[in-house]
Amino acid sequence: MLASQWLAHTLIIALAAEAAAQGTEWRTLPNMSIPLGEVASGLLQDAAGNPQLLVIGRFSGVSHPFNPQTMILNLSSSTWYRGADRLHVGDHHTADVVGNKLYVAGGFSDNASGKLQIYDPIKDAWTLGAAPPVNSGAAASAVLGRSIYYCGGVLNGDQARGPPTTACARYDVDAGTWVNISSMPYAVHHASGGSDDQRYFYVFGGRSSNGNTPFGPVGYTQRYDTITDEWDADLPELPVGRGGMGPAIYLDGRFHIFSGEVRCGSAGIVCPDADTGLTSTGVYTRIDRYDPPSGTWDLAPSPGILVPRHGIYPVLGQAPPAEVALSSRQVVYVCSGGTREGYSPTALCDYMLGGAPPAPVVSSFPLPFASPSSSSPPLDFRSGSGSSAMPPTTKPSTPPAEGFPAVSSPGAAQPVLGDKGFDGQSRSGDPRAALDPYPSPAVSKRAPPSPDAPNSSQGGYAARATTMSCRWLLAAGMMMVFVSSLF
Ligand SMILES: *[C@@H]1O[C@H](CO)[C@@H](O)[C@H](O)[C@H]1NC(C)=O
Ligand SMILES: *[C@@H]1O[C@H](CO)[C@@H](O)[C@H](O)[C@H]1NC(C)=O
Ligand SMILES: *[C@@H]1O[C@H](CO)[C@@H](O)[C@H](O)[C@H]1NC(C)=O
Ligand SMILES: *[C@@H]1O[C@H](CO)[C@@H](O)[C@H](O)[C@H]1NC(C)=O
Ligand SMILES: *[C@@H]1O[C@H](CO)[C@@H](O)[C@H](O)[C@H]1NC(C)=O
Repeated sequence: MLASQWLAHTLIIALAAEAAAQGTEWRTLPNMSIPLGEVASGLLQDAAGNPQLLVIGRFSGVSHPFNPQTMILNLSSSTWYRGADRLHVGDHHTADVVGNKLYVAGGFSDNASGKLQIYDPIKDAWTLGAAPPVNSGAAASAVLGRSIYYCGGVLNGDQARGPPTTACARYDVDAGTWVNISSMPYAVHHASGGSDDQRYFYVFGGRSSNGNTPFGPVGYTQRYDTITDEWDADLPELPVGRGGMGPAIYLDGRFHIFSGEVRCGSAGIVCPDADTGLTSTGVYTRIDRYDPPSGTWDLAPSPGILVPRHGIYPVLGQAPPAEVALSSRQVVYVCSGGTREGYSPTALCDYMLGGAPPAPVVSSFPLPFASPSSSSPPLDFRSGSGSSAMPPTTKPSTPPAEGFPAVSSPGAAQPVLGDKGFDGQSRSGDPRAALDPYPSPAVSKRAPPSPDAPNSSQGGYAARATTMSCRWLLAAGMMMVFVSSLF
C-alpha cells in the first residue's frame, strides 16, 4: 500500500533524525592505574600490530611531583602496563606518531623544554633526537607526511613568566633534522594543533599570556601552508577562545577541538556559562568543529565531551579491536586530563565514536547546550579534504600589542588541590611552586571571544527547534499508524 509505505518512510526519517539528535557517542575504557594531568598521548603498535595507546603526563604524588611512568593501554587486551620511563619527565609535551615511533617535543619541567624525546614501542626504549630550534613548553604540533610541525608555546619552558612565542619549526623524521619555518602571526601557547593530512597545519586558539597561566584566552585560527611556507591568520575564529584542548582532531572531514580551560573570574570569564558550555570548574563541555572548505564552525551535538576536562591529548584511531561491531569506525581517544581549571588529574580514559552516524544511545550526562542544527555536513569520513577550496576570510586583525594589563584575582572557588600558580602547578606541596613570585598577567591581545563570532546558544536554539519538530513528526507518524490500524 502506498499509504503504509509513505508512513513507514516518514517514520524512518523521523527516527533517523531523532537518532542523530542523540549526540556524540562515547565509550569508556579501563581507568589508568594512577591519575595524570597535562598529558600527551599517541597511538602505536606492538610487534604483533596490536594498537597501544600511550599516555604520559604530570602526577601530583606525595613523594614525587612528577610521574615518570609511560602508561600504555593495550587496546587488544584492554589492559594497562608500564613502558620505559622517558628521559626528561616533564609535562605539556607535544606528541606525534610517524612510522610507529612517538616524537615527544618540548614541555615544562625536568628540562623537557627544547628536547625531542623519541619512543620506540618495539624496543620499549627512549632516545633523544635533535634538539628543536624552538625551545618551549605547551606548544602546538601536527604531522604532515613524514614531517612534524611544531609551533609556539611558552618560551624556554619558563612557566613563571616566559613569553608566548611565534616561532615554528619542522622536523624531518627521515633526516632527523629540524629547520625553522615562517613564524605564526600570533604568539600562543596551549593552542590546538592539527593537520588536514594534505597541505595545511592549523593552530587554533590558545593563550596569549606570559608563563604557564590560564589567562589571555584567544580564538585565532592560524593556518600554515606547507607548500608556500606562508601563514593565514585571517580565518574565522574558534567561537570560544581558550586553551588546554590538546590537538585538533581531523575526523569526518572536520577539525574537532575538545573541551579546554579558562580561569574563572578572570577578564570576562564567569563560571558557569550555559551559553558557551563552561562548567563551574572552568572547563568546557563543548567540542567545536571547523569545516575547512567552507570555513565554518559548528558544535558537535550534546553532550559534547563525555567528561569536560583540559590538559588532554585527543588521539585519532580505529575503535579497539575487541569492539567488532565498531571495526569500521574512527574514534578519538581521550585519556586523563583535569576536570577543573588548574592541575587536577584524572585516571579516566574514554573514546568518542566518529565515522558512521551514531546509533541511538541514552546519555545521562547533563546537556548544558543543545546540538547543532541539522545543516551539519554529512558524516562521511574525509568528505572535506580542504585541499582546494579556501575558507572565506573575515576582518583584518590588528597586530598583537605588547604587554598585558593585570587582571584582578581569580576569585572563583579553588579546586581541592589548593591554590594554583601555574596552571600545571599547585602551590601547596609542590617544591617548584616557589618559582612563582609573579602575579599572573592576563588578558588577551584581542577581545577574547569576539562578539561577532558565532553564538553557540543560537545554534542550540535552532537544534532544539529541529529536535522538537522531529519529535512532533514522530508523534504524528505514530498517530497515523494508529489511525490506519483502525481500518
Ligand atoms: C596486547 O594484547 C594482545 C591480546 O591479548 C596480546 O596478544 C599482545 O601480546 C599484547 N601486547 C602487549 C605489548 O602486551
Ligand atoms: C636541567 O639542566 C640544568 C642545566 O643543564 C642542570 O643544571 C639541571 O640539573 C637539570 N635539571 C634536571 C632536573 O635535569
Ligand atoms: C631558528 O629559530 C630560532 C628561534 O626560534 C633561532 O634561535 C635560531 O637561530 C634559528 N636557526 C636558524 C638556523 O636560523
Ligand atoms: C575511574 O576514575 C574516576 C576518576 O578518576 C573515578 O571516579 C572512578 O571511580 C574510577 N573508576 C573505577 C572503576 O575505578
Ligand atoms: C548569544 O545569544 C543569547 C540568546 O540569544 C544572548 O542572550 C547572548 O547575549 C548572545 N551572546 C552573544 C555573545 O552574542
